[in-house]
Amino acid sequence: MAVSIKSAREIELMRESGKILAKVHDELGKAIVPGISTKEIDILGDKLIRSYGCIPNFLHYNGYPASICVSVNDEVVHGIPNHHRILQEGDIVSLDAGLIYQGYHSDAARTYGVGTISKEAQSLIDVTRQSFFEGIKKARAGNFLYDISNAIDEYVTAFGYGIVRDLVGHGIGTKLHEDPQIPNFRQKRKGIRLQAGMTLAIEPMINIGRADVEWLDDDWTVVTEDGSLSAHYENTVLITEGDPQILTML
Ligand code: MF3
Ligand code: CO
Repeated sequence: MAVSIKSAREIELMRESGKILAKVHDELGKAIVPGISTKEIDILGDKLIRSYGCIPNFLHYNGYPASICVSVNDEVVHGIPNHHRILQEGDIVSLDAGLIYQGYHSDAARTYGVGTISKEAQSLIDVTRQSFFEGIKKARAGNFLYDISNAIDEYVTAFGYGIVRDLVGHGIGTKLHEDPQIPNFRQKRKGIRLQAGMTLAIEPMINIGRADVEWLDDDWTVVTEDGSLSAHYENTVLITEGDPQILTML
């Protein structure tokens, strides 16, 4: 399928969708303290999204049972919130959230430390976040899609971390997942040419250890095969002729 180019009006709706999601993430970030359950985070996120008149797009997506994906430590993404899963000092937790505003989707993820965390865990979080920013330096009209993938890979690989290969970023708009797929690791081809008006969810998922992941029996929760910590950072980004615009940051 072709990659959609958003009109000026659509871009304004994407912008508003992203701005609301940025506010939701901001509030969720403040709620991350030792003792909170992953289900409480989901309930808060669901309430916040609806308080802005928006719809949580993850809820019931292919049967996913919650509004916020909450993934702890060796869980990479798509962790299912649970009342019995209590965050402990020293954990790291990835929150992935998305919403629909007037038919337009936004999608973003952040990883937080719970209380004081190890230097190693903080470095993983910092490198994962920075890898997104390294990637989007290449995200401008005229460049190739895989310039982004290669920039993320080059930055992360220097730290010896494993880049998850089984899950990728994606186009986004009137659907949560649109073309193109956006890998976070080196590609042999160039990929499509980027054009102004494309909106892309760029989302590196990085493991301290090896890149390999597996699925738990719930068929959602993705975990690292070697049990190492994993971090996730994602924003919805608008391609322009100049610098990319991050729609899901305040
Ligand atoms: N950020 C994730 C993605 O783009 C969120 C989807 S998870 C699901 O794939 F719960 F909605 F399935
Ligand atoms: Co996404």
